[in-house]
Formats: sequence, C-alpha cells, structure tokens
Amino acid sequence: MSFDRSVKIAPSILSADFANFGSEIQAIEAQGCDWVHVDVMDGHFVPNLTFGPALCKAIRPHIKTVMDVHLMIAPVDPYIDAFADAGADIITAHLEAGPHIHRTLQAIRGAGAKAGLALNPGTPVEAAAPLLDLCDLICVMTVNPGFGGQKFIASQVAQVRALRDMIGDRPIHIEIDGGVDPTTAPKVVEAGADVLVAGSAVFRGGSVDTPEVYGENIRAIRAAAATVQAAA
Ligand code: DX5
Ligand code: ZN
Repeated sequence: MSFDRSVKIAPSILSADFANFGSEIQAIEAQGCDWVHVDVMDGHFVPNLTFGPALCKAIRPHIKTVMDVHLMIAPVDPYIDAFADAGADIITAHLEAGPHIHRTLQAIRGAGAKAGLALNPGTPVEAAAPLLDLCDLICVMTVNPGFGGQKFIASQVAQVRALRDMIGDRPIHIEIDGGVDPTTAPKVVEAGADVLVAGSAVFRGGSVDTPEVYGENIRAIRAAAATVQAAA
C-alpha cells in the first residue's frame, strides 16, 4: 500500500447482504470502490454485534483492493493477531476502547498491519497528538459507532480540520466514518479527509443482481467530493 491523499471510497459491508459477502465485495470492487471497510462489533463497546476474525478470513480472498478492518471491540489487544492473520491490511482500534491505546497501536504494527486510530464524536482530536507517530490512519467518527444509516454529525467537520492541521506532512490518512453521502462528502474532503467510508450511501437501491447501482452511488460520492479543493 503506497500513501497518497487522493479521495478513496471505502464501502462498509455492514450495509451489504450478509448472506452474500463474496459476491457483494466482487460487485463493489468491479464498480470502482478503492477499499473495503469491515465493521467488527462486539455488543459491549458498541450496542451491536457483527462478526469476527473467521469471517474476515473467509472474505479476504474476495478482496483485491484493501481490507480496512474497523474494530469496535473492547478489549482489542487479545484479538490483534487473529485479525492480522485473517489478512487485514489496516486494523483500526478506538482510543476509547481501553487504557492502553499506545500499546495497542504498537501491537497492530508489530503484527504486520497498518495501524488505525478511531475517535468517537465525544473525543477531542487533540487526544491523538501523542499518538501520531504510531498511526497510519486516523478515523474520525461522524456518527456514534454501532449502526449504519445514522445522521452525520456536522460539528465533526471542525475536528477534521483541526486534525488535518495537526498531521501536517505526516503520511497519515484521515478517514471519515458515518453518514457520508454526496451532501456530506465535500464538507469532510474540504476539511482534509481522504478516505470516505460509506455504507448506506453505496449499497442503497442496489444488489448483486443490479451492481450498476453501486457504481452510480460510488461515482456520485466521488463526483461530489471532487467539487471542492482538499485542505493542504
Ligand atoms: C458505524 C460503522 C460505519 C457504518 C457507516 O458504527 O463504523 O462504518 O457502517 O454506515 P453509514 O455510511 O450508513 O453511516
Ligand atoms: Zn466503520
């Protein structure tokens, strides 16, 4: 994975057909997505349950782009090796998931994956300052994690801008997760984001039998994001 700040669309398979992950992934990649975002939830750190490393391993052969695993679990550390072994390119842990996020980020890199740090809407981005050198990606949550289809929290745009300033020239992606659609995408790209996670806005209206709808949805987000100048 080489680093660049071009806009990347990362559909969240939380909004895909759970009985058809392989075909859904093939469809979104054929329709032009850049990364595949995998939302792991434990029913404890967030009030919803999804899937674990075994499913990640099963879908890995279908992913030709980048497997971006977002862990909404606590604790994180006992499971890092399992997600790395499952083939995650990026493993993102929440700052709020435990007392030792510094150790967690070190362990993710130690397991051979890129390290992501996710911040809930209630967490000031300044909390990431001591961790920047351990991060390959920082995920700014624009909803409270746990469910797809929630409303974008607009006050997070200012936090994205502050984070972009803090990052400077460091090779750290800024990922936005929650409520991204053609209306909200330009706001976060203008503020400095480069990875846009989108669940409902990509999968809405389509299916593996009508994958062209996924393509239209992906292109609509990309075109909206291209209308603004990204923060330098
Ligand atoms: C929320 C997840 C998101 C979610 C995004 O907890 O981390 O990735 O699936 O879904 P939308 O795009 O529908 O807000
Ligand atoms: Zn996510």
